[in-house]
Amino acid sequence: MGQSEQRVVAPQQRQEDHAELSLRPRLLMEMIGQDRVKENLAILIEAAKGREEALDHVLFYGPPGLGKTTLAHILANEMEVNLRVTSGPAIERAGDLAAILTNLQPHDILFIDEIHRLGRAVEEILYPAMEDFALDITIGKGPGARSIRLKLAPFTVVGATTRLALLTAPLRARFGAVHRLDFYDLPAMEAIVRRAAQVLDVRVEAEGVAEIARRARGTPRVALRLLRRVRDYAQVRAEGHITRAVAHEALALLDVDGLGLDDADRRVLRTIIEKFNGGPVGLQTIAASISEEPDTIMDVVEPYLLQLGFLDRTPQGRVATPLAYQHLGLEPPGAPQARLPEM
Ligand SMILES: Nc1ncnc2c1ncn2[C@@H]1O[C@H](COP(=O)(O)OP(=O)(O)O)[C@@H](O)[C@H]1O
Ligand SMILES: [Mg+2]
Repeated sequence: MGQSEQRVVAPQQRQEDHAELSLRPRLLMEMIGQDRVKENLAILIEAAKGREEALDHVLFYGPPGLGKTTLAHILANEMEVNLRVTSGPAIERAGDLAAILTNLQPHDILFIDEIHRLGRAVEEILYPAMEDFALDITIGKGPGARSIRLKLAPFTVVGATTRLALLTAPLRARFGAVHRLDFYDLPAMEAIVRRAAQVLDVRVEAEGVAEIARRARGTPRVALRLLRRVRDYAQVRAEGHITRAVAHEALALLDVDGLGLDDADRRVLRTIIEKFNGGPVGLQTIAASISEEPDTIMDVVEPYLLQLGFLDRTPQGRVATPLAYQHLGLEPPGAPQARLPEM
């Protein structure tokens, strides 16, 4: 395990930890959108505090950039406990996890990002740890070997994953709360852009905010990235002032279209449509023909295309819908193809 891959963040240090954190909401009430998730978490937090117990284990899933890591930090802030950050691929051996677990203080939160990538042996250590706050270790070898059980401090696992389906059933079952993060609606996106503009001290008109929010594919991380790029553009070309026209020009230059699709999204759609006649075509084939990683397509590109209704996932592969043809200004194929229900 790379030691640099995990770190402990004490409550008071946390706010200065990273420049990005000034943009990151610190408390539940500062977080915009995801109302249902926030309400559930508020109850979970209050109940745990009332009983003076560790927070129940929480799992967040959904596409990247929607606030999973942010929520893990918020939970630690709200509970006023330490947050220890690690990730599935960073914990290579069972012993690595045992070392982390035995160092936790009571009620600490262990955030495991990309939790679907934990190895099997590591997972097996995690089960009794999550369920009984216990660590089972075997001492010795052969017939003389015996197993002893170490008590751990009561703690909380917060897991995050972009791929709920890759989580094993026993691991999933050990989370008391499982929350899906959805794409944000337009008013929430606008509020996020407005707040970020304030923090970054950027001058932006309401219509400029709307333009950026509309093209940020319902994803706060994308909104913040676009805002920075538009700010650069405005600084160089428009005396730092972001109007609708300035936002529009900057985003056009970035190849982000009216719905927020970028070059990678359009290449995926065009490949399905132009090389494979609209599909169905397998993910691996699409990935190979545009030289992208299948994981990137699946995690980053597809969720938004599915949400827009531009793409269908069928057992035979991906299919571009008539809406996708329309958006790209292409003629949909004449004969309607048989469609299988979405998986
Ligand atoms: N609801 C929100 N309000 C404001 N900013 C947000 C919100 N959710 C996420 N962000 C910002 O978006 C970025 C990505 O969020 P993050 O929690 O890292 O996403 P994930 O872990 O799901 O990939 C962060 O910079 C974070 O500050
Ligand atoms: Mg994250």
